[in-house]
Amino acid sequence: MSNLIVIGTQWGDEGKGKIVDLLSSKADTIVRFQGGHNAGHTLVVGDQVFKLSLLPSGVIREDKIAVIGNGVVLDPWKLLEEIEQLNSRGIKICSDRFLISENTPLILPFHKDLDLLREQKAGKEKIGTTGRGIGPAYEDKVGRRALRTGDLKDPNQVKRKLNIIKEHHDILRAGLGATDIDEEQLFDELMIVGKKINTFIKPVWKILNEQIKKNKNILFEGAQGSMLDVDFGTYPFVTSSSTIAAAAAIGSGVAHNKINSVLGITKAYTTRVGEGPMPTELTDSIGRYLSEEGNEKGTVTGRDRRCGWFDAPLVRRSCLLNGVTSLALTKIDVLDKLEKIKICVGYRIEKEEYTDFPVSTSLSNKLSPIYEEIDGWNVGYRIEKEEYTDFPVSTSLSNKLSPIYEEIDGWNTSTVGLEKIDQMPIKARAYIQRIEELSETEVSIISTGPERNQTILINDPF
Ligand code: IMP
Ligand code: MG
Repeated sequence: MSNLIVIGTQWGDEGKGKIVDLLSSKADTIVRFQGGHNAGHTLVVGDQVFKLSLLPSGVIREDKIAVIGNGVVLDPWKLLEEIEQLNSRGIKICSDRFLISENTPLILPFHKDLDLLREQKAGKEKIGTTGRGIGPAYEDKVGRRALRTGDLKDPNQVKRKLNIIKEHHDILRAGLGATDIDEEQLFDELMIVGKKINTFIKPVWKILNEQIKKNKNILFEGAQGSMLDVDFGTYPFVTSSSTIAAAAAIGSGVAHNKINSVLGITKAYTTRVGEGPMPTELTDSIGRYLSEEGNEKGTVTGRDRRCGWFDAPLVRRSCLLNGVTSLALTKIDVLDKLEKIKICVGYRIEKEEYTDFPVSTSLSNKLSPIYEEIDGWNVGYRIEKEEYTDFPVSTSLSNKLSPIYEEIDGWNTSTVGLEKIDQMPIKARAYIQRIEELSETEVSIISTGPERNQTILINDPF
């Protein structure tokens, strides 16, 4: 048995698509288990560029089975669009090699409306979502009212469930100034789309377990990154699914003890799209350099990604949360022209002042008083300096962190397209080694460019 989960260890956009596409040559089946079309993968194969959001990256290899698991939220119109895009380029998506789980919840147009309306209303407090309806669709799943793919085969079930959903959403919509859902029109549209995708809808959990019995290799393709995980990410600035490796089991129906390896994809620096804390963010010329050199624009929304130095405690925490067995380090070549390179090894909160006595004893324990000199009255408290070696879960805390850096020399040599580790400049190897030490995990793959062959394979992660 050799089943592998591929996840992002940062805030997504680590380059999972390329690595999954590469490794899928060794897999029989590629499964997506969470997220939806908020994800964006760019695949470069020869002179062809593919941009996928919903279909698993392995789908462009026609001898592989591609699967959308129950942990995904699926926009059926977007799915058809992607299938048509591939069909028109000669890649056939047919029901013997593409499966959708029967218990996958649907993203419907009112989910997108709600996502956008809430973001607009939130103003400065917005999450910075991709506006695809991801959060509201997961809310309906957990609220036990979602319409799921399997329902599409039964018109009466669709009618009954639409009724329940409409009742719920019309109240929300009214509060945000939107009109009621046109239930009949939506029903008709769902019947049309249902006819087109029904042939793909199967008991995925069973098929995957049968494959495991036959010793087939399954690759589980994560979307987003661990710092966007709904539990462990920078909540509330996260996505609405579990993005860590454990979600592969829940989101597909393959038990966790049937999966043996986890590859953590890690960019050689840090990026993030959307709002929320990012301690190593750089807004200076180096930040702009990383953005330009790394072409850091979102695949889905075209937004500029925020860029910064490599954050080691963050990646170390991700390695633990995911049970990462080895790392794939991507975009090392983006650092080629830098004189000096920094690595964040910890965090510090410079100085914090309080005018009220805090309730928390762990806080009040650390206070030094601020005095007014003239009459000696105590007017406040201060924590002089606090240091952290782990990335804190609390966003109110992580928002205030300044990074503690270690600085190393750049290598000033091109690493673009290298295919062997001994071609890697010594100083670049020292940087990689430091990342291994700090994240307590070994690097098994180094990516040196967007193409399949621009890769150094040190150990097979399967
Ligand atoms: P949502 O997933 O659209 O609800 O967006 C929530 C947060 O996750 C926002 O900060 C998005 O920018 C971020 N996000 C969602 N999907 C991705 C992705 O695939 N890559 C990077 N960031 C993402
Ligand atoms: Mg992406």
